[in-house]
Amino acid sequence: MTTVSDETRDVVPAEPSDGGQPDGAHTDVAGTPVSEHDSDADEATNGPAAEDVPAADTAGEQSGATLETAGQDTSDAPADADDDAAGDITGAAADDAVEADSAPADLASDDNLSTPAYSAADDSEFTPVDEAAGDDSGDAATPETSTLDTVSGDTVALEGDAPEADALDDEAIEADLDAAGDPGPDAAVAGTDHADTGDFGTGDLGTAHAGTDLPGPATDTAIVPAPRVAGQLDPRDDTWWKSAVFYQIYPRSFADSNGDGVGDLNGVIQRLGYLELLGVDAIWLSPIMRSPMADHGYDVSDPRDIDPLFGDLETFDTLIAEAHDRDIRVTMDLVPNHTSDQHEWFRAALAAGPGSPERERYIFRDGRGENGDEPPNNWHSIFGGPAWTRVTEPDGSPGQWYLHIFAPEQPDLNWENPEVWADLEQTLRFWLDRGVDGFRIDVAHGMAKPADLPDMDLSNAVLLSNDDDDPRFNNYAVHDIHRKIRAVLDEYPGAANVGEIWVDDNERFAEYLRPDELHLGFNFRLAKAPFEAGAIREAIENSLDAVLSVSGTPTWTLSNHDVAREVTRYAPVDPATGELDLERGTRRARAMIVVEMALPGTVFVYNGAELGLPNVDDLPDEALQDPVWERSGHTERGRDGCRVPIPWQGTEPPFGFSTSPDTWLPIPESWRSLTVESQLEDVGSMLSLYRAAIELRFRRPEFAGDRVEWYGAPEGCLAFRRDEGLLVCALNAGEEPVPLPPGELLLISSPLVDGMLAPDSAAWLV
Ligand code: GLC
Repeated sequence: MTTVSDETRDVVPAEPSDGGQPDGAHTDVAGTPVSEHDSDADEATNGPAAEDVPAADTAGEQSGATLETAGQDTSDAPADADDDAAGDITGAAADDAVEADSAPADLASDDNLSTPAYSAADDSEFTPVDEAAGDDSGDAATPETSTLDTVSGDTVALEGDAPEADALDDEAIEADLDAAGDPGPDAAVAGTDHADTGDFGTGDLGTAHAGTDLPGPATDTAIVPAPRVAGQLDPRDDTWWKSAVFYQIYPRSFADSNGDGVGDLNGVIQRLGYLELLGVDAIWLSPIMRSPMADHGYDVSDPRDIDPLFGDLETFDTLIAEAHDRDIRVTMDLVPNHTSDQHEWFRAALAAGPGSPERERYIFRDGRGENGDEPPNNWHSIFGGPAWTRVTEPDGSPGQWYLHIFAPEQPDLNWENPEVWADLEQTLRFWLDRGVDGFRIDVAHGMAKPADLPDMDLSNAVLLSNDDDDPRFNNYAVHDIHRKIRAVLDEYPGAANVGEIWVDDNERFAEYLRPDELHLGFNFRLAKAPFEAGAIREAIENSLDAVLSVSGTPTWTLSNHDVAREVTRYAPVDPATGELDLERGTRRARAMIVVEMALPGTVFVYNGAELGLPNVDDLPDEALQDPVWERSGHTERGRDGCRVPIPWQGTEPPFGFSTSPDTWLPIPESWRSLTVESQLEDVGSMLSLYRAAIELRFRRPEFAGDRVEWYGAPEGCLAFRRDEGLLVCALNAGEEPVPLPPGELLLISSPLVDGMLAPDSAAWLV
């Protein structure tokens, strides 16, 4: 595990040297180029009516073997061009969005298109692949223009979807879903009114396109569901995970049903309507098994039971059944690298003494030095301090040492002992038999240790982090473990595994995704990238490279329970105040979710990201609970700042999270504007943006294809196109508004400025 701190804000990796040239896996992309269509440019110059700008114009004829090089010189651009045009999550932002009602007309007007948008020579614009540069490969699919000639039907109309303000629970949202009609097989779009040309971003376009036909859902690409059986999902859909949106629930922080200040499983059950409204395909529950909670559940004392803090097995069964009823799959964390020190095995190991079979389940060693009072090697714990703790033997004498790569309460298992695998297999089957749809495997690049436990190079060691040279992780024997796990999962159609893999090297990363290993690997490249076009593009290219060599599925995540929240990570320091500019961080986070959701593969959303929650960096010292705080000698504040409970409704903490004001971490009062309740009613909110993005991603055929093709782009910007569906995504991470690429707007993260893509924003075009 490696955290992504807000330090990444200041890191500005070099732009890829070619500016707009693809490399690596993208040689394939270069072989399937798409070019401009001259007549499109002419038409654009002449300013056609918006509805006459077919999405096919973004594709044009297939020709050319290379991509355009991005223009670079905008050095004389004013630096303050992104000021108050910014949208935010307040009502004011919604007003701004309404102003953008003229966007379609602008798109087709001189404002936007008086300069031919395909001009490769003009480095202030996005430039699709150059038609003159190569042969017509004919490989890229031509979009179905008949289904793309309008956006009106795809406007995500969110007004009227909000449940009653005083009852933001499952019943209220249920009623809301009912009012919107039976979601049926199209459950991921339930709760939205597709006939309403609302006014969130694309809604503005809907006004301009009113009267055109609505395209239907993408039934040609969707799996036709089997007749529904209560509590069961379509057994034929065993590749659902390849394009799913997962929602990570940190159970302590999601919703508290029993008033103890800590979230629980009943809280999740009560909020399933919200998750259905959000449109996610699956949830991933961070650990809910029995645990003394030294690391909030990642220290498991009984892997085949639910911790009473969260509920019991019966409640979990109910959760699975009710989630399945809503077409939401349930996956759960599995922690195979270590157990709790309260696990019966570890207690037995302590009691049994050196040389016993009980000790062979863990990694016990004699100490170094004359009296064995030095640790067996120099490994340090990810949480700080040594990775070894010395035990007192049953006879009272100072004894052996045991390895714990994390906290002392998390002893590492000895994966060379067959009993360890046998126990994990039981655990896998226990949950799979109950109906779970898969697992998130904690520290999936851990588990196997090098036999001789060599010292490590401590010069680059960073808390909460590991690099590729770290002998504690990514040893080859780990792949045998993944193959065994996969063999079990293959007995359960539709079950899928995602592994937490902090491995930077693409080839080594890909090894985990071979067909007989993990289904998915968490990829943190995007989460680690600062808000800088070159770094973001590099992260995307790297992520795709890392999986496509083994025909794997890419995954994307901007944050999780170990990572500072993206609103804060992306926030620049305001030079006037010296404070983080969170409003701008929010705009950037909005842009990044639009980028992320445009990418091929699987997206993981961490609970609260859809509300635009910032990291809470000013928790009082006495509130901190992450073991890192103590282990680091109070030098590293740890991960509590991204784990603060979710604000649901009302105007005062705990904002409907709990009936107790004493929540396990305090919730900032300033979050009153970020509650689910307030955002559901605000079409310009982060929540509305997430709902729109998820729905469009689910429904629209333009999201087809495993690869992306890069456009040339103005400095500070990037744009890519899905290779089959031809969706175009453009990001402006620069300082100046830029013209949009050609096409019809489908979604924008912030209002246009004079018909142009504002700084810190992103758009989808078809
Ligand atoms: C993973 C988890 C992290 C936990 C660690 C030890 O990295 O994501 O939260 O502390 O493993 O289990």
